Amino acid sequence: MRQHVNPLSKYFYDIEPIPPIKEIFSQDKRPIHLDIGCGSGAFLFDLANQNKNWNYIGLEIREKLVDKAKLKLENESIDNLFFAFGNASYLIDDFINNCPGDMVSSVSFNFPDPWFKKKHHKRRIIQPELIYKISQLMKFGGLISIKSDVEELFKYMDMIIMNSKSFINYNCPYFEIIEYYNPTNLQTNRENYVRSKKLKVFEKLYKRI
Ligand SMILES: C[S@@+](CC[C@H](N)C(=O)[O-])C[C@H]1O[C@@H](n2cnc3c(N)ncnc32)[C@H](O)[C@@H]1O
Repeated sequence: MRQHVNPLSKYFYDIEPIPPIKEIFSQDKRPIHLDIGCGSGAFLFDLANQNKNWNYIGLEIREKLVDKAKLKLENESIDNLFFAFGNASYLIDDFINNCPGDMVSSVSFNFPDPWFKKKHHKRRIIQPELIYKISQLMKFGGLISIKSDVEELFKYMDMIIMNSKSFINYNCPYFEIIEYYNPTNLQTNRENYVRSKKLKVFEKLYKRI
């Protein structure tokens, strides 16, 4: 089993600077989706190939995975996908500084690391501060999607998002799903694995109010 990376390590204080959106994407007016903890990025490659009217950004703390994803991106002609390495919580600060307000239309947290021990809960990616930062980056009406196979983590994330008072629980109607960042319901590697084992997936959508 792989070791989890401690996101609070000083190593992640120095972050990869994120260029302005205009420099990242040739078509910078498309809606932007952020996938936080994107792993190998396979899910984002699938999404970016399928939905050319969206721009996708993956944030990931494991450097080797990001390097591999960037290499793959160089070899494919995909102009609506970007990866950045680092602790997403710090990378988001750079976005806030570099992106014109409310650029982000949606954000996904797919199967984040659970950090089961109570003393490690502060290492969990969803924290009040991060949700506040996302609320600053996101359009009104924008969506957060969370998924996990760990019920306790799911409840923890749900509590933090609902406590922020910037998001409400949202049952997305079908006609909006078509407009959503993932209209054909593509799944991440972890979700494929969890479903293949017939484990339960806890999931929820939230709307920025
Ligand atoms: C269990 S994996 C899930 C990967 C992918 N989302 C999926 O569903 O297949 C969780 C991922 O989140 C990344 N991660 C954990 N904490 C992070 C943080 N603070 N910032 C960015 N990525 C993080 C991990 O390195 C790992 O790749």
